[in-house]
Amino acid sequence: MTPAAAAARRILLIEDNPGDAALIVELLGFDDRSFVLVHVERLSAGLARLREAHFDAVILDLRLPDATGLDTVRAIRAETEDTPMVVLTGLADEALALACLEAGAQDYLEKDHLPRTDLRRSLGYALARSHEAAQRRRADALQRHLATIVESSPDGIVSINAQGDVTSWNRGAERIFGFAATEVVGRPFGELLSPPTDAPAHAEELALVERTLAGEDGVTVELSRVRRDGVPVVISVVTCRITDERGQTTGLAAICRDVTEARGRDAELRRRNHELEQREQQMRALTIRLNQVREEERTRLSRAVHDELGQLLTGLKMDLRWITRRLPDDAPPWANAIAQRVGEAEGLTDKLLRAIQRIAIELRPSALDALGLASAVRDEARRFEERSGIPTDVEVSGAEVPPAEVATVLFRVLQELLTNVARHAQASLVTVDLALGPDAFRLQVQDDGVGIPADAEGRPGSLGLLGIREQVSVYAGSVEFRGVPGTGTTVTVRVPQGS
Ligand SMILES: Nc1ncnc2c1ncn2[C@@H]1O[C@H](COP(=O)(O)OP(=O)(O)OP(=O)(O)O)[C@@H](O)[C@H]1O
Ligand SMILES: [Mg+2]
Repeated sequence: MTPAAAAARRILLIEDNPGDAALIVELLGFDDRSFVLVHVERLSAGLARLREAHFDAVILDLRLPDATGLDTVRAIRAETEDTPMVVLTGLADEALALACLEAGAQDYLEKDHLPRTDLRRSLGYALARSHEAAQRRRADALQRHLATIVESSPDGIVSINAQGDVTSWNRGAERIFGFAATEVVGRPFGELLSPPTDAPAHAEELALVERTLAGEDGVTVELSRVRRDGVPVVISVVTCRITDERGQTTGLAAICRDVTEARGRDAELRRRNHELEQREQQMRALTIRLNQVREEERTRLSRAVHDELGQLLTGLKMDLRWITRRLPDDAPPWANAIAQRVGEAEGLTDKLLRAIQRIAIELRPSALDALGLASAVRDEARRFEERSGIPTDVEVSGAEVPPAEVATVLFRVLQELLTNVARHAQASLVTVDLALGPDAFRLQVQDDGVGIPADAEGRPGSLGLLGIREQVSVYAGSVEFRGVPGTGTTVTVRVPQGS
């Protein structure tokens, strides 16, 4: 498209009189290519052309073979809402001309005066007026569209002027606040809802309005108020400034949302979380207490077994020894049989003493209380080595002393892990690493066996690892187990200092 063609106005001339048509062509002056004229002689042909292509203006004769008068104007308007229209009327048709303007024509020209008319100027005015009208219609449509959005919004949308008075109030605001628009327009926004107590009455609303008018956008507050019907509500309000074309603040818009239910849910959730936390704390305290009771019981049993049974058996052994010593060297054969039986009884008593010592240690190793965790760990590893036949190395680093309960937990964890190695690992070497650092106590048991499966924890009937996790969590500790098939298993338990 050439620049001239781009700028050219397309005019549709609907005129059956060849003389008038020729005159119009002449008046429009086609030499400068600013107009492109399409000429038809009937209304039906004109309407067809309008349907086919865009025209910037229509020049319309009111006396056509297939239509006359106002109907022609209406027919064109029905076809095109925006295209400016200049009608050609007879001298005596002034009333008709005015009716045509009302029906949507932009101008009229009297045919008899055509030679003296500045047709181009009239057309220019018509185009300008039509352009303005189209703009106004678009602006009106946009405003209607925006008004529909505002009206249908479930949020309250309120506009407020620079004095803090309400200037508009949508249906959402009516629902949230309980006031109709007619009741509040013109009243101060800050005084619509009562605060739950009289004390800082409306201070928040006033501050909200003031801050926004002072230039702050997006001011957000949550207001706890009592609605007109006495129902307490929590309303979240966000504001934005309204400015004029020079950017001056003329008022503000407040978008209000009823968040009563959501806040109620939040409060309920907080209450339940609090309850859960409390229960967790109670469970933790209970676990600690149960451990204490169990360990105290074991210690008591261990001592009873070791001391009381041990002493009785030692007494028994001494008696047996006494009998053996009293038997003469040249005793008769029956006495030799007694000596043999007494010797066997003495051997049994030794076995019993060793069993009692083992049971006493298993119940509660005295090293744990007397010599501390590191010694107890070394002893336990040695006993495990003897029992299982699997060489077991122990490394201890650091010299921090864990609290008694933590030491007991770590010791019991070691027992469970070593039992697991014996039962499941098929290992040929075990390493126990105890680090008593200033930040944390760490126990690591490593074997070179089949490797623990990733989903081992919590399998039906398997409670060992779960128990370890539970025990350690009481002291804010952590458990990590890693298995590599065919290479081995590493379990690391860490309890922070000061837990
Ligand atoms: N060192 C290990 N090497 C290989 N597999 C292991 C090792 N330790 C544990 N497992 C696997 O992890 C599973 C879970 O261990 P866990 O201690 O929780 O239960 P358990 O030993 O089977 O039963 P219990 O409740 O008596 O302890 C075991 O059944 C075993 O399959
Ligand atoms: Mg186990």
